[in-house]
Amino acid sequence: MSLAGARDEAVWTRFSALFSARPVILAPMEDVSDAVFRALCRQHGASLCVTEFVNVEGLLRGCRIARRKITLDAGDTPTAIQIYGSNPERLAEAAAVAEEAKPAYIDINCGCWVPKIAGKGAGAAWLREPSAMVAMAKMVVDAVKLPVTVKTRIGLGPESHMPIVDLAERLEGVGVRALTIHCRTAKMGHSGDPDWSYARRAKERVKIPVIVNGGIKSAADAARAFEETGCDGVMIGQRAIEHPWIFDEARALLDRGEHLAGPTAQERIALCREHLIANVVARGAPRGVCCTRRHLAGYLKGLRGAGEVRRQLNLCDTLEGCLAILAEAERRGAEQAAEPGNEHVNETVNETVNASASECEDSTLLAC
Ligand SMILES: Cc1cc2nc3c(=O)[nH]c(=O)nc-3n(C[C@H](O)[C@H](O)[C@H](O)COP(=O)(O)O)c2cc1C
Repeated sequence: MSLAGARDEAVWTRFSALFSARPVILAPMEDVSDAVFRALCRQHGASLCVTEFVNVEGLLRGCRIARRKITLDAGDTPTAIQIYGSNPERLAEAAAVAEEAKPAYIDINCGCWVPKIAGKGAGAAWLREPSAMVAMAKMVVDAVKLPVTVKTRIGLGPESHMPIVDLAERLEGVGVRALTIHCRTAKMGHSGDPDWSYARRAKERVKIPVIVNGGIKSAADAARAFEETGCDGVMIGQRAIEHPWIFDEARALLDRGEHLAGPTAQERIALCREHLIANVVARGAPRGVCCTRRHLAGYLKGLRGAGEVRRQLNLCDTLEGCLAILAEAERRGAEQAAEPGNEHVNETVNETVNASASECEDSTLLAC
């Protein structure tokens, strides 16, 4: 029996329903999966979003940034809140605080490899002591009424054994309600080929939903991940940063067997505009402009003259300036499309973009 008392059955029914519809989920990503980006991905077909991880100490101290990260607007649903920390009691307390924000569920980060996190006993450091991880997860499960899930990796590194399959069973045994497996080791960071077979093996052992994560860069990858692992959901990280259309593309393929054409040049520019405006409304300028930049290069990929547009955008920190650069790019694109012989300019753009779908390994961003 949960220490937290009676649970809300409607929440649990919704939780089960989420994973019966083969969700394509936006991964938690620090400084990326914020409210603005979640809204944008949802609009482009993401079934479910997870907040960037929130430090439990910050949350318990009432730190403004941590509070902002767990604040969910009415339309921001279904969204799970992810927390991280090294102390089981503090994680349990923080989960109870996060629960007040009414997320779809609480996710515990047991996969972040970054030294400033794992070096302090949080994130992937839990993989060093699977029994401690299981005991910690039980404390969190017992502290809240909401479903609790864990996101972790297959193991620490090549020299260690991969504890994930046994761990899945043990976490299920203490009441964890779903497991996300980033199918790389902690040593791999976020590059290199993930091994989805661990997700399949874990899935074969447990009844709870298992979500496969790592290296899903296209709709075809998403479909293959479901097929090869038998998992209940797929989670997409880096590819969404540059190509949020991946959610619609995956849904179309999974639900209707349809291969969507990539976004047109106009749609790409429109998304740059929309994201910039939303971030400036949310954070003001220049911060809202700067934090959109990591997305813009990807959104513009394949567009004629994209390199120059990117360069100009990187030098500009006002919204008005960026909008003017985009308007000019759009005008040039329309002129080129109107030139005789260029009727298929959008198709060319889309082909280039699809061909570049596997180029997303070059991200230099922090990864957990
Ligand atoms: C910029 C960035 C920030 C991340 N932050 C988090 C985080 O806060 N919590 C987490 O569990 N994983 C985090 N991750 C890892 C992703 O959730 C995901 O597991 C990883 O990128 C593998 O998926 P992918 O191959 O689709 O990118 C982050 C990854 C990136 C690239």
